[in-house]
Amino acid sequence: MMAKNRKTFKELPFEVKDIENEVYVQTGIPDLPQFRGILVGPKKYFLHPSYRECGLDIYNFEARPDDVWLMGYHRSGTTLHAEMIWLIANNLDFQKAAEEVIDFRFRHLDGRINDALLQFHEKIDKVAFSAELQELTNKYKENIEEYDTGKRRFIKSHLPISLNPPHIFDVGAKVIYIARNPKDVIVSMYHLSCFLFEDLSDAKFEEFFHVFKSNMILYQPYFEHVKEAWARRNDDNFLFIFFEDTIKDKPKSFRKIADFLGVDLTQQDIDSLEDHLKFENFKANKSVNLEHFVEMGIATKNTSFIRKGKLGGWREYFVGDMARQVDEWIEENLKDCDLRFRNDQ
Ligand code: A3P
Repeated sequence: MMAKNRKTFKELPFEVKDIENEVYVQTGIPDLPQFRGILVGPKKYFLHPSYRECGLDIYNFEARPDDVWLMGYHRSGTTLHAEMIWLIANNLDFQKAAEEVIDFRFRHLDGRINDALLQFHEKIDKVAFSAELQELTNKYKENIEEYDTGKRRFIKSHLPISLNPPHIFDVGAKVIYIARNPKDVIVSMYHLSCFLFEDLSDAKFEEFFHVFKSNMILYQPYFEHVKEAWARRNDDNFLFIFFEDTIKDKPKSFRKIADFLGVDLTQQDIDSLEDHLKFENFKANKSVNLEHFVEMGIATKNTSFIRKGKLGGWREYFVGDMARQVDEWIEENLKDCDLRFRNDQ
């Protein structure tokens, strides 16, 4: 199954740079640890500093031809698609889906550079958990390299394609990428930050908007992230999906994914999937709603992980000329390619 002559890298084939404090000050970025990072690769992806320790391991991760990978910027609907893909590929095993949290059916390649989890690991030994939570906690500490259940693997990564292991593409593993309209991503990302960081709940949306537009939120620049995937959209073993398309017509996305994975779905399968993934049901589903993060002290009660699930929700947040600013930003960033985000209405 493993490629014999897999290239392993002794060092990362791109630069990892620190950011001078002056840059934050000049850009007007709030002095919070969540807004501090390093710049990685030629596109200067803004990542958590812990990437310095594990970036090479991540890049050298050994993929398998039968792996299913899910990629996409945070808040692009990756959890919804993870559940969808896993169920389609696993004979709609709703029972197992109810028993096991999505993070352990769809493992995170980049979990160890997740700021909230890292802060949590620092506190972890000081907290007494129930047996159930302790088991979950231990699982979050597991190394992705140890992920082997003897079955097909499902792996999620928020990293852009150029920072993901090249081996994924060398072995021809299946990759599904989810993209979402940047205006809704900004709002949703703001709420995710408030969900994860108590000290952010006081930060105004306007402040967060400015940081996002400065490309200083983790995993930015957003457009480069999406454009790298868009450039691969016609490749074999690659499927590019817009979140908005799924929300407007879920059965169509089910069929696309099923075709891509070589699975047949009956009308009854489609109906039961649609019901399972309905926003209200999803929000109440403990396997996907990350409520255990609140119980474990990783997340706050300020907002919820499965939040609104609406298209065009940015209209309730953007004031003044924010919409114009983002429209210009989109136009500027897409002028060298034919990617166009979906209508959000
Ligand atoms: P909002 O914050 O706009 O509500 P990710 O899983 O990549 O972090 O993406 C999260 C976004 O997907 C959130 O957007 C969340 O509410 C939305 N979402 C999750 N499940 C959904 C569902 N079943 N239907 C519609 N939207 C959903």
